[in-house]
Amino acid sequence: MGDFKIALIPGDGIGPEVSNAVRQILDVTGSRFGHNFHYDELLAGGIAIDATGQPLPEATLAGCQKSDAVFLGAVGGPQWDHLPGDSRPEKALLGLRSGLGLYGNLRPAILYQPLSGACPLHPAIAEKGIDILFVRELTGGMYFGDNGRREGKLGPEAYDTEAYSVLEVERIGRMAFELAAQRKNKLTSVDKANVLESSRLWRETMIRISKDYPGVALDHLYVDNASMQLIARPDDFDVVVTTNMFGDILSDEAAMITGSIGMLPSASLGAPGSPGMYEPIHGSAPDIAGQDIANPLASILSAAMMLRLSLNLPKEAAAVESAVTHVLADGYRTRDIMDKRQAESDLTCAGTQEMTRQVIERLSQG
Ligand code: IPM
Ligand code: MG
Repeated sequence: MGDFKIALIPGDGIGPEVSNAVRQILDVTGSRFGHNFHYDELLAGGIAIDATGQPLPEATLAGCQKSDAVFLGAVGGPQWDHLPGDSRPEKALLGLRSGLGLYGNLRPAILYQPLSGACPLHPAIAEKGIDILFVRELTGGMYFGDNGRREGKLGPEAYDTEAYSVLEVERIGRMAFELAAQRKNKLTSVDKANVLESSRLWRETMIRISKDYPGVALDHLYVDNASMQLIARPDDFDVVVTTNMFGDILSDEAAMITGSIGMLPSASLGAPGSPGMYEPIHGSAPDIAGQDIANPLASILSAAMMLRLSLNLPKEAAAVESAVTHVLADGYRTRDIMDKRQAESDLTCAGTQEMTRQVIERLSQG
């Protein structure tokens, strides 16, 4: 029976709608299993720019640091697109990641069996199933390297720097090896070592630390080839570890092949004992905000990851995941995961709130 402090950052676009779903799911989990969740609602992103002039007010970072775990809906929207790089809503996300030391980003990409029709790959590939855990480095590389504008030989130019220290590669590598050891003992490291020096250091480091995990088979792919292989033989992958930039791109590809970006949760983790941050990997989707049509499942599954990884409540996490599986098996679909090939009579189109209610119904029954 626990009391937990959750920092809740609804953010922009569909963020508040999916955060609302998470709050309800945690409350129901709490009443079923005897826990209390206390929420500290904090501002970040465009809504924070409008209210305070800054994408990530100091009070928000401080509130997160005091919490047991953070849930973030989404940030960004067209009304803030004209702002300079450092004042954009996305800066809040990067500030939270670096401010909380969240160097490891776990993005599980699972093709749920009832959704196999929503997978755009050939049915022969889809029916083998997909269950890949992406481990993306989150506080280094090009996202945080030296950048700017300057006068170059050909006139004005801009640059972003990809730099990785041994320490950064080693800690994300160890996180990935540990996770691989809890799964199928298979780890694929993705880099561009045929071209980039930072990737050669990445690969060398992965090979060196692999000696400490003799049970885990390590292989390497160049990122261009990895993007092909993910489509050709997704069932061959188990845990994939890669850089911040490559992980951003490959995880969107993985979202597509598993049916919808509306299904993918994520966990961002730092040093043991520090609060993790949980967020759906879809963005703020301003085009569908406020219409009650966003898929809440990526957020609900992120809450399940929070229960398991930050709050040490594996039974509770499994109960949430099982409720989601049942809702899908019972034919409930938000618009993004509707399958036109399936008979309409077998499926029920549900909005954000209805989908959440369906999960809650199964979760509270146990
Ligand atoms: C993600 C997003 C972010 C990223 C953006 C919104 C800054 O695409 O979490 O994948 O690039 O990391
Ligand atoms: Mg992305």
